[in-house]
Amino acid sequence: MSSATSTVDKKFGQNDPKIVQYAEQVFVHSDPLLNEIAVRSEKEGLPVIQVSQMDGLHLEVIARSLGAKKMVEIGTLGGYSGICLLRGLQPGGKLYTFEGSAHHAKVATESFKKAGFSDRVEIFVGTAIQNLPKIEPYGPFDLVFIDADKVSYPAYLDWAAKNLRVGGTVLADNTFAFGLIADEHVSDPQDKADVEALREFNRKLADPKGVFRSTILPTGEGLSYGVKVRA
Ligand SMILES: C[S@@+](CC[C@H](N)C(=O)[O-])C[C@H]1O[C@@H](n2cnc3c(N)ncnc32)[C@H](O)[C@@H]1O
Repeated sequence: MSSATSTVDKKFGQNDPKIVQYAEQVFVHSDPLLNEIAVRSEKEGLPVIQVSQMDGLHLEVIARSLGAKKMVEIGTLGGYSGICLLRGLQPGGKLYTFEGSAHHAKVATESFKKAGFSDRVEIFVGTAIQNLPKIEPYGPFDLVFIDADKVSYPAYLDWAAKNLRVGGTVLADNTFAFGLIADEHVSDPQDKADVEALREFNRKLADPKGVFRSTILPTGEGLSYGVKVRA
Protein backbone atom coordinates (compact mmCIF):
# COMPACT_ATOMS: atom_id res chain seq x y z
CA MET A 1 0.00 0.00 0.00
CA SER A 2 1.70 3.24 -1.05
CA SER A 3 0.94 6.40 0.90
CA ALA A 4 -0.84 9.26 -0.89
CA THR A 5 1.13 12.48 -0.73
CA SER A 6 -0.65 14.68 -3.22
CA THR A 7 -3.64 16.71 -1.98
CA VAL A 8 -5.42 15.59 -5.16
CA ASP A 9 -5.52 12.09 -3.69
CA LYS A 10 -6.96 13.26 -0.40
CA LYS A 11 -10.53 14.04 -1.42
CA PHE A 12 -13.40 12.20 0.26
CA GLY A 13 -13.30 8.67 -1.11
CA GLN A 14 -10.16 9.60 -3.11
CA ASN A 15 -12.35 9.86 -6.21
CA ASP A 16 -13.13 6.14 -5.92
CA PRO A 17 -16.88 5.32 -5.70
CA LYS A 18 -15.94 1.99 -4.05
CA ILE A 19 -14.52 3.88 -1.07
CA VAL A 20 -17.66 6.00 -0.72
CA GLN A 21 -19.73 2.82 -0.87
CA TYR A 22 -17.45 1.19 1.71
CA ALA A 23 -17.84 4.15 4.12
CA GLU A 24 -21.63 4.00 3.79
CA GLN A 25 -21.71 0.24 4.34
CA VAL A 26 -19.62 0.46 7.49
CA PHE A 27 -21.08 3.59 9.11
CA VAL A 28 -24.71 3.78 7.94
CA HIS A 29 -26.92 1.15 9.55
CA SER A 30 -30.49 0.06 8.92
CA ASP A 31 -32.78 2.70 10.43
CA PRO A 32 -36.49 1.80 10.32
CA LEU A 33 -37.55 5.12 11.90
CA LEU A 34 -35.78 7.29 9.30
CA ASN A 35 -36.98 4.99 6.52
CA GLU A 36 -40.57 5.34 7.71
CA ILE A 37 -40.26 9.14 7.72
CA ALA A 38 -38.84 9.16 4.20
CA VAL A 39 -41.58 6.87 2.88
CA ARG A 40 -44.45 8.68 4.66
CA SER A 41 -43.11 12.11 3.59
CA GLU A 42 -43.08 11.03 -0.05
CA LYS A 43 -46.59 9.56 0.24
CA GLU A 44 -47.74 12.88 1.69
CA GLY A 45 -46.44 14.60 -1.43
CA LEU A 46 -43.37 16.22 0.10
CA PRO A 47 -40.38 16.69 -2.21
CA VAL A 48 -37.63 14.10 -1.69
CA ILE A 49 -35.02 16.63 -0.59
CA GLN A 50 -34.16 15.52 2.94
CA VAL A 51 -30.53 15.01 3.88
CA SER A 52 -28.99 11.63 3.09
CA GLN A 53 -28.77 9.16 5.95
CA MET A 54 -25.02 9.70 6.18
CA ASP A 55 -25.43 13.47 6.31
CA GLY A 56 -28.02 12.94 9.05
CA LEU A 57 -25.40 10.97 10.90
CA HIS A 58 -22.95 13.87 10.58
CA LEU A 59 -25.58 16.13 12.17
CA GLU A 60 -26.17 13.77 15.09
CA VAL A 61 -22.47 13.19 15.77
CA ILE A 62 -21.63 16.92 15.59
CA ALA A 63 -24.55 17.76 17.93
CA ARG A 64 -23.41 15.06 20.37
CA SER A 65 -19.79 16.19 20.34
CA LEU A 66 -20.90 19.76 21.07
CA GLY A 67 -23.03 18.63 24.02
CA ALA A 68 -25.78 20.66 22.38
CA LYS A 69 -28.80 21.58 24.51
CA LYS A 70 -30.30 24.39 22.43
CA MET A 71 -30.48 23.81 18.70
CA VAL A 72 -32.10 25.61 15.76
CA GLU A 73 -33.02 24.08 12.41
CA ILE A 74 -34.09 26.21 9.43
CA GLY A 75 -35.99 23.99 6.98
CA THR A 76 -37.92 21.17 8.73
CA LEU A 77 -39.54 19.35 5.76
CA GLY A 78 -40.90 16.05 7.18
CA GLY A 79 -38.64 15.97 10.22
CA TYR A 80 -35.88 13.69 8.86
CA SER A 81 -32.87 15.84 9.72
CA GLY A 82 -34.70 17.08 12.84
CA ILE A 83 -34.77 13.51 14.19
CA CYS A 84 -31.02 13.20 13.50
CA LEU A 85 -30.35 16.42 15.42
CA LEU A 86 -32.69 15.36 18.25
CA ARG A 87 -30.79 12.10 18.60
CA GLY A 88 -27.70 14.18 19.35
CA LEU A 89 -29.44 16.50 21.82
CA GLN A 90 -28.49 16.45 25.50
CA PRO A 91 -31.18 15.52 28.05
CA GLY A 92 -33.36 18.50 28.92
CA GLY A 93 -32.47 20.18 25.63
CA LYS A 94 -34.68 21.57 22.88
CA LEU A 95 -34.76 21.87 19.09
CA TYR A 96 -36.49 24.91 17.54
CA THR A 97 -37.26 24.15 13.91
CA PHE A 98 -38.59 26.52 11.22
CA GLU A 99 -40.75 25.55 8.26
CA GLY A 100 -42.58 27.62 5.66
CA SER A 101 -45.18 25.01 4.68
CA ALA A 102 -47.97 24.10 7.11
CA HIS A 103 -48.32 20.72 5.38
CA HIS A 104 -44.62 19.90 5.77
CA ALA A 105 -44.84 20.92 9.42
CA LYS A 106 -47.84 18.59 9.95
CA VAL A 107 -45.87 15.65 8.54
CA ALA A 108 -42.89 16.59 10.73
CA THR A 109 -45.11 16.81 13.84
CA GLU A 110 -46.14 13.19 13.20
CA SER A 111 -42.47 12.20 12.71
CA PHE A 112 -41.42 13.78 16.01
CA LYS A 113 -44.36 12.09 17.77
CA LYS A 114 -43.48 8.67 16.34
CA ALA A 115 -39.87 9.12 17.47
CA GLY A 116 -40.93 10.07 21.01
CA PHE A 117 -39.43 13.56 20.71
CA SER A 118 -42.59 15.72 20.85
CA ASP A 119 -41.64 17.30 24.18
CA ARG A 120 -38.18 18.31 22.92
CA VAL A 121 -39.10 20.10 19.72
CA GLU A 122 -41.07 23.19 18.69
CA ILE A 123 -42.00 23.90 15.07
CA PHE A 124 -42.52 27.48 13.88
CA VAL A 125 -44.59 27.68 10.70
CA GLY A 126 -44.02 30.61 8.34
CA THR A 127 -41.16 32.50 6.75
CA ALA A 128 -38.14 31.61 8.86
CA ILE A 129 -36.51 35.03 8.79
CA GLN A 130 -39.69 36.52 10.25
CA ASN A 131 -40.09 33.83 12.94
CA LEU A 132 -36.46 33.52 14.11
CA PRO A 133 -36.63 36.62 16.37
CA LYS A 134 -39.31 34.82 18.44
CA ILE A 135 -36.73 32.43 19.91
CA GLU A 136 -33.98 34.98 20.54
CA PRO A 137 -34.93 35.25 24.25
CA TYR A 138 -34.12 31.50 24.61
CA GLY A 139 -30.59 31.90 23.22
CA PRO A 140 -27.69 31.89 22.89
CA PHE A 141 -27.82 28.59 20.98
CA ASP A 142 -25.32 25.75 20.65
CA LEU A 143 -26.05 24.77 17.05
CA VAL A 144 -27.83 26.26 14.03
CA PHE A 145 -28.48 24.00 11.02
CA ILE A 146 -29.45 25.81 7.80
CA ASP A 147 -31.28 23.84 5.10
CA ALA A 148 -34.02 26.02 3.58
CA ASP A 149 -34.29 28.60 0.74
CA LYS A 150 -30.79 29.21 -0.59
CA VAL A 151 -31.22 32.95 -1.27
CA SER A 152 -31.70 33.53 2.45
CA TYR A 153 -28.54 31.69 3.56
CA PRO A 154 -26.55 34.95 4.10
CA ALA A 155 -29.36 36.34 6.27
CA TYR A 156 -29.55 33.07 8.23
CA LEU A 157 -25.79 33.24 8.77
CA ASP A 158 -26.08 36.79 10.14
CA TRP A 159 -28.77 35.54 12.53
CA ALA A 160 -26.58 32.60 13.61
CA ALA A 161 -23.56 34.86 14.14
CA LYS A 162 -25.60 36.97 16.57
CA ASN A 163 -27.45 34.18 18.34
CA LEU A 164 -24.89 31.38 18.77
CA ARG A 165 -22.78 31.15 21.90
CA VAL A 166 -19.02 31.42 21.46
CA GLY A 167 -18.03 27.80 20.73
CA GLY A 168 -21.41 27.19 19.08
CA THR A 169 -21.64 25.77 15.58
CA VAL A 170 -23.35 26.69 12.35
CA LEU A 171 -23.91 24.01 9.71
CA ALA A 172 -25.37 24.58 6.26
CA ASP A 173 -26.33 21.96 3.69
CA ASN A 174 -26.10 22.16 -0.12
CA THR A 175 -23.22 24.63 -0.13
CA PHE A 176 -21.81 23.12 -3.32
CA ALA A 177 -24.99 24.57 -4.90
CA PHE A 178 -25.95 21.26 -6.50
CA GLY A 179 -22.67 21.23 -8.40
CA LEU A 180 -22.88 24.85 -9.60
CA ILE A 181 -20.86 26.65 -6.91
CA ALA A 182 -17.71 26.92 -9.04
CA ASP A 183 -19.40 27.36 -12.44
CA GLU A 184 -18.55 30.65 -14.10
CA HIS A 185 -21.72 30.87 -16.15
CA VAL A 186 -25.02 29.99 -14.53
CA SER A 187 -27.78 31.05 -16.87
CA ASP A 188 -31.06 30.07 -15.18
CA PRO A 189 -32.11 33.16 -13.15
CA GLN A 190 -33.25 31.17 -10.07
CA ASP A 191 -30.07 29.05 -10.08
CA LYS A 192 -28.03 32.25 -10.49
CA ALA A 193 -29.68 33.87 -7.47
CA ASP A 194 -29.18 30.71 -5.37
CA VAL A 195 -25.55 30.26 -6.43
CA GLU A 196 -24.71 33.91 -5.73
CA ALA A 197 -26.31 33.67 -2.29
CA LEU A 198 -24.44 30.45 -1.49
CA ARG A 199 -21.15 32.02 -2.62
CA GLU A 200 -21.84 35.02 -0.40
CA PHE A 201 -22.67 32.66 2.46
CA ASN A 202 -19.44 30.65 2.09
CA ARG A 203 -17.37 33.84 1.67
CA LYS A 204 -18.82 35.36 4.86
CA LEU A 205 -18.44 32.12 6.83
CA ALA A 206 -14.82 31.72 5.70
CA ASP A 207 -13.86 35.40 6.23
CA PRO A 208 -10.97 35.42 8.75
CA LYS A 209 -12.19 38.84 9.99
CA GLY A 210 -15.61 37.40 10.84
CA VAL A 211 -16.71 35.59 14.00
CA PHE A 212 -16.35 32.04 12.64
CA ARG A 213 -13.49 29.61 12.14
CA SER A 214 -14.84 27.41 9.41
CA THR A 215 -14.48 24.66 6.86
CA ILE A 216 -16.59 22.95 4.23
CA LEU A 217 -16.98 19.20 4.54
CA PRO A 218 -16.80 17.47 1.16
CA THR A 219 -20.05 15.57 1.58
CA GLY A 220 -22.17 14.83 -1.48
CA GLU A 221 -23.94 18.18 -1.16
CA GLY A 222 -21.26 20.20 0.64
CA LEU A 223 -21.74 20.87 4.35
CA SER A 224 -20.37 24.23 5.46
CA TYR A 225 -19.29 24.09 9.09
CA GLY A 226 -18.30 27.03 11.27
CA VAL A 227 -17.51 27.44 14.96
CA LYS A 228 -18.11 30.87 16.50
CA VAL A 229 -14.74 31.85 17.95
CA ARG A 230 -15.43 35.39 19.13
CA ALA A 231 -18.39 37.49 20.21
C1 LIG B 1 -34.30 20.94 1.87
S1 LIG B 1 -35.81 21.01 2.70
C2 LIG B 1 -35.34 20.66 4.36
C3 LIG B 1 -34.94 19.25 4.56
C4 LIG B 1 -34.78 18.85 6.00
N1 LIG B 1 -33.78 19.69 6.65
C5 LIG B 1 -34.36 17.40 6.09
O1 LIG B 1 -33.22 17.12 5.71
O2 LIG B 1 -35.16 16.56 6.51
C6 LIG B 1 -36.16 22.73 2.76
C7 LIG B 1 -37.41 23.06 3.57
O3 LIG B 1 -37.37 24.47 3.80
C8 LIG B 1 -38.66 24.99 3.66
N2 LIG B 1 -38.52 26.43 3.34
C9 LIG B 1 -38.17 26.98 2.15
N3 LIG B 1 -38.11 28.30 2.25
C10 LIG B 1 -38.43 28.61 3.54
C11 LIG B 1 -38.53 29.83 4.26
N4 LIG B 1 -38.28 31.01 3.70
N5 LIG B 1 -38.88 29.76 5.57
C12 LIG B 1 -39.09 28.58 6.18
N6 LIG B 1 -39.01 27.39 5.54
C13 LIG B 1 -38.69 27.41 4.23
C14 LIG B 1 -39.30 24.16 2.56
O4 LIG B 1 -40.71 24.20 2.63
C15 LIG B 1 -38.71 22.79 2.83
O5 LIG B 1 -39.58 22.02 3.63
